[in-house]
Amino acid sequence: MRNPFFDRDIISIKDFSRSELEYLFSLSNRMDSLDREKRRNLGRGKILGLLFFEPSTRTRLSFEAAMLSIGGNVLGFAHPRMSSVEKGENLADTVKTVENYVDVMVLRHPMEGANRFAAEVASKPIINAGSGTEEHPTQAMLDLYTIMKVKGRIDGLNIAIVGDLKYGRTVYSLIYGLSNYRTRIFLVSPPQLRVREEALFNIGDKIKVSEHGDIREIIEDLDVIYATRIQRERFPDPHEYEKVKGSYVIDIDLLKSGKDDCIVMHPLPRVGEIKPEVDNTPRAKYFLQIYLGKVIRATLLASILNPNPYALF
Ligand code: NCD
Repeated sequence: MRNPFFDRDIISIKDFSRSELEYLFSLSNRMDSLDREKRRNLGRGKILGLLFFEPSTRTRLSFEAAMLSIGGNVLGFAHPRMSSVEKGENLADTVKTVENYVDVMVLRHPMEGANRFAAEVASKPIINAGSGTEEHPTQAMLDLYTIMKVKGRIDGLNIAIVGDLKYGRTVYSLIYGLSNYRTRIFLVSPPQLRVREEALFNIGDKIKVSEHGDIREIIEDLDVIYATRIQRERFPDPHEYEKVKGSYVIDIDLLKSGKDDCIVMHPLPRVGEIKPEVDNTPRAKYFLQIYLGKVIRATLLASILNPNPYALF
């Protein structure tokens, strides 16, 4: 297959077909076993720009580690206070500045639509690392890749997405990504945090989706539990957050009532949704997600930067 990622913006997971995602997964398998020296040829002489207008640990550092692992370099800012944004510079001018110094940019921004807008003004590819409550496409790529690695397939699985389905952007990208497969999705949240209508509208009748208030109703059917953090910073009223915080806690007792091989995932950070007692069980896959996130991002960068990355392997 021709490399579908070369010189392309990564704004929404909806822009990518199942076969394009599978290109990324199979190249990631190769990347993971590639000799360190060979890997460095994939990004040699290239520079990644990081523009982070919101806090991040994994996304920012994994992009950075991924770019270094393919032999490239990284520059940018981890907080807008460290840039002229603090002086009032707008997003378009910031992007049109940084593009002079780099080959590809990763942008995280609190506003929905900011990444699409940045891609329109930029002459270099933009990778969306989170656009408000809207999407986080590379998180979904690594989530799907983790499911594929652990379960050997995505088709036929029953997947619960639990927690803050209203404000969690990883939820939207994951639902759209999963809609390329024959999965069944169970959406579990308190009533105030139900998924926004746009998600159901966007997937139409591609896959079966149902909404639930209590995970115990469906636990026996699940192959994957994808827990999410209640997004405190996105609540217009802090009292509303207080009402729903701690709504769902995944612990060993809950997992005992489910299938033996039901796995637990989380984009992290967690703030109490998964008890630490789960960490050392074979169910916990959130640390594997962190590792595979770096692999996927290295592959994605190599594919955006090279017309034919396979030739370099
Ligand atoms: C998520 C995010 O920023 O959307 N973090 C991440 O990138 N893994 C999830 C979150 O903040 O809850």
